Amino acid sequence: MTEVIRSAEALREKVAGWKRSGALVGVVPTMGALHDGHLSLARAARSQSDRVIVTIFVNPMQFNNPEDLKKYPRDEAHDLALLEADGVDVLFAPGPDEVYPEGFASKVSVTGVSGPMEGAHRPGHFDGVATVVTKLFGMTQAGRAFFGEKDWQQLQVVRRLVRDLNIPVHVIGCPTKRETDGLAMSSRNVRLSAAERAIAPALHRAMQDAARAIRDGAPVKAALDAAQGAIIRAGFATVEYLDLRDAETLEPLQDLRAPARLLVAAVLGDVRLIDNIAV
Ligand code: PAF
Repeated sequence: MTEVIRSAEALREKVAGWKRSGALVGVVPTMGALHDGHLSLARAARSQSDRVIVTIFVNPMQFNNPEDLKKYPRDEAHDLALLEADGVDVLFAPGPDEVYPEGFASKVSVTGVSGPMEGAHRPGHFDGVATVVTKLFGMTQAGRAFFGEKDWQQLQVVRRLVRDLNIPVHVIGCPTKRETDGLAMSSRNVRLSAAERAIAPALHRAMQDAARAIRDGAPVKAALDAAQGAIIRAGFATVEYLDLRDAETLEPLQDLRAPARLLVAAVLGDVRLIDNIAV
């Protein structure tokens, strides 16, 4: 039975009890609309901790576009059933007033890794992510936190803030879960029409082709230009960025140097998709 907790105080008491009996607590922060990708994080948490908390909070502070916030899919009853089936101990689902009470005036801002790509295209997004993740670490007091590699830049931002602020949590990145045609699982995929859903896997295919070409020695710019062309020809409206970057610092790379990561954001219909792969 998964217990639903909505207040930080009740959660603190629950976790304190677990910790008194020596349990290692794992947390999976999410915004709900759970899919197999989230569930794989919950399973990783289950296998690497004694108690598992999944948090669901659609964080208004990380949405730079109010329409996107409004359209974000929400179905807590369905999410809860999935978590129950997976043996998650607690669903922490606070309301906005619990997370941002009257008078809330703080912000966590990570420079450097937050700057390019998502940071450049979604101003303020990573301040919202860093602030809420810091709060969720404080509220859950978890020793381990599980994040998907699908949001690669977010993972680097969280790693940086944990190091910089001496937060006593071990951050674990888990591989991206994909549909059988290669599309990275995302809560936004449900907003794709049937025609768009058929086009969407072209994003991952173009990334794989570019990664292969770069590994085979093609000039990085030529490989990225070819991939960008393929994505647009497939039916995407725009490619916001398609970059080869150092996997940790996220500095742009002109030539292949390990560890390197290829990262993309592209818009299909009115749905913005992101993806990344190791090169
Ligand atoms: O990846 C997400 O779902 C969100 O950015 C996170 C980490 C739960 C913070 O709101």
